[in-house]
Amino acid sequence: MNAVQIKPDIYWVGGIDWNLRNFHGYQTPRGSSYNAYLIIDDQITLVDTVKHYLFNQMLDRIKSIVNPHDISYIVSNHVEMDHSGSIPLLLSHTPNATVITSTRGEKGLLRHYKHQWNMKVVQSNETLSIGHRTLSFVHIPMVHWPDSMVTYSASDKLLLPNDAFGQHIASSERFDDELEFDILREEAAKYYANIVLPYSGQVQKVLETIDTLKFDMIAPSHGIIWRKQVKKILDLYRKWSAQHTDDKAVIIYDTMWGSTEKMAYALYDGLRTEGISVSMKNLQMNPFSEVITTVLESKLVLIGSPTLNNGMLPSMGGFLTYLKGLRPTQRIGFCFGSYGWGGQAVGEIEKIIEGLGWQKPIESVNINYVPEIQELAALKDVGSKLAQFMKKEPMRTEYGSSHA
Ligand code: FEO
Repeated sequence: MNAVQIKPDIYWVGGIDWNLRNFHGYQTPRGSSYNAYLIIDDQITLVDTVKHYLFNQMLDRIKSIVNPHDISYIVSNHVEMDHSGSIPLLLSHTPNATVITSTRGEKGLLRHYKHQWNMKVVQSNETLSIGHRTLSFVHIPMVHWPDSMVTYSASDKLLLPNDAFGQHIASSERFDDELEFDILREEAAKYYANIVLPYSGQVQKVLETIDTLKFDMIAPSHGIIWRKQVKKILDLYRKWSAQHTDDKAVIIYDTMWGSTEKMAYALYDGLRTEGISVSMKNLQMNPFSEVITTVLESKLVLIGSPTLNNGMLPSMGGFLTYLKGLRPTQRIGFCFGSYGWGGQAVGEIEKIIEGLGWQKPIESVNINYVPEIQELAALKDVGSKLAQFMKKEPMRTEYGSSHA
């Protein structure tokens, strides 16, 4: 198990989780990694650890550089167990180590591990000299949990922001210039949509703060390290956290006997006559985590379900619960569905998108049993009108950051 040098005297010593396919409900077909970073200085410091079952990977990598006994500090940037899970095991190898954490981190670690370790609580912007370098700690509450913080080394121009800027990718490569950017973008977007999106307001504050720092490398706690595309990932985070979208549409639906699907395809035809890029997401075939990733950059979101047992299909109920929790805003919505009697599904979908504050420029369409040819033609017209409405919306701002 080799450590990988990322800066002079700083090494990646994390774990690669090739078999991970589900991260609390988020499907991860490319696996993931948990990144820990070892800083060799007068006081040897480890920033973050790995999931408990990858402890030996991390320990072997640390041992390839130093004797773990010599570690002075273990920084816990975030309590979630994918990063703190190996601290209890590691402490038995590092009898001299102090755990550095935020105020909420201290409480969270105690609740998780039930041990009052030797801990030092750091306030936001507090610094710690470890020899030739000084580390700074910046609290970034809710990116991803209340306890989250960034560790920063000014002399190394290195930002260690834990979950922020991560991607769920298992790979032998460690740097962004060693993999295709399209894959990194796709996985960074999926990570943002499924993990970070509800905290977009806090992300904007973090971006303002880190804009005042000088760095040329972002080493997150999942996936690859950004060293060539630092500006691109910062700009993407500006776009996503501002909830700015592209003139694209996604049609999310489920169907019982094909009527709602016919409606979905009629809407698709109308959108395509206006030249709009459209994704079709049948919930029987597409995991929620993939669908929400498409929503991240789509301005127009069309949602359809037939009525079953006086409500929407359970697949749609589950998806809308997920959507509501992730809180995408500034979208244009349209609701549709079919029914035999009752027809409550469409009203239930409307309540969700109204709760998210989406624009709803065209009344929902609810069709009894099987749509007529004329009803499908009318829906095609609705698709065209929605596309025209979207095109009239003001252009999005261009994004830029101070990092070249
Ligand atoms: Fe990667 Fe919030 O843990």
